[in-house]
Amino acid sequence: MKIAIASDHGGFNLKEQLKKYVESFGHEVIDLGCYSADRADYPDHGIACGEAVVKGEADRGIVVCGTGIGISIAANKVKGVRCALCTDPVMARLCREHNNANMLAIGERIVGIELAKGIVEAFLTTEAEGGRHAERVAKITAYDEARQ
Ligand code: RB5
Repeated sequence: MKIAIASDHGGFNLKEQLKKYVESFGHEVIDLGCYSADRADYPDHGIACGEAVVKGEADRGIVVCGTGIGISIAANKVKGVRCALCTDPVMARLCREHNNANMLAIGERIVGIELAKGIVEAFLTTEAEGGRHAERVAKITAYDEARQ
């Protein structure tokens, strides 16, 4: 898969570590910044990553900020994005199985690197379950597509 990845300065160090981890699965990483620990605003990078996913330039997206909150809110403003903020691998598995999340958000100041790797592994290796879950996701998509 092609995985778009982005962060603000608060998530920069974890993003850099996760890039290598994602590549270790054989995936291609598209790094949408930021590219240093200098100030970077999470809306810019969260929205850029969301747009890469919905335009089909990437299959899934991973975004990181200090808490994961701001960048997940920003990404979820992009029509078609379902970005899940996860703090453990169970949430990451369920956001794929139940919600068919196409983006994952993590907080560098919230989880350590080993936990973050477990979250990313679950996100990348779990497929959507379909069935009743797909019917619910379809309601979100219908609302999304009807809005301006
Ligand atoms: C940046 O200091 C911090 O506010 C940001 O990374 C994030 O935690 C916001 O939600």
